[in-house]
Amino acid sequence: MGQSQITIHNKAFRPYLSVAQLDEAVTGLAARISADYAGREPLFVVVLTGAFMFASDLLKRVTGPCEIVFIRVASYEGTDSSGVVQEIMGLREEVHGRHLIIVEDIVDTGTTMHHLVPKLQANGPASVEIATLFFKPESLRHEINLRYVALEIPNDFVVGYGLDYDGLGRNLPDVYVAV
Ligand code: IMP
Repeated sequence: MGQSQITIHNKAFRPYLSVAQLDEAVTGLAARISADYAGREPLFVVVLTGAFMFASDLLKRVTGPCEIVFIRVASYEGTDSSGVVQEIMGLREEVHGRHLIIVEDIVDTGTTMHHLVPKLQANGPASVEIATLFFKPESLRHEINLRYVALEIPNDFVVGYGLDYDGLGRNLPDVYVAV
């Protein structure tokens, strides 16, 4: 891993998690999922863009047959109680009766998952679980069922390995934290 600080959009970040540390966490999570879903042919629902690198490494290590679909979640101001409505784009696969595993980069406040899970559940899947690379427990503001967490992290801003700071940093193989 790069040992020194980097700057993105004039903000300083220091090295936080190496490729090896990420690999170990993702490999462990893939083993758990593989064991839990043996014989069930799950449908992985990858949330773009942040989860692309995590999903790639995770799914290479998941054994057994599975399907993979990439979605985008659009938020806009709406009239429900939270003021945010999530629209799912790209989900063309038949969801009814399937075992869904949402693949997300980070659960921060939990707002995204709080809105996405019921929308998927409305299509009648057999089950819905969440697999997230990062979870910030101190930030959580909604009750959500997080079955698969690769790494719990403090309430700090991180970039790299798919996650961005204002559009930049997704291509970094290691994860950096704001200083
Ligand atoms: P939530 O809806 O508050 O749980 O936030 C989820 C989304 O916020 C993630 O999918 C990220 O796009 C973004 N996010 C939250 N924390 C970070 C971070 O530390 N770095 C980069 N993106 C973040």
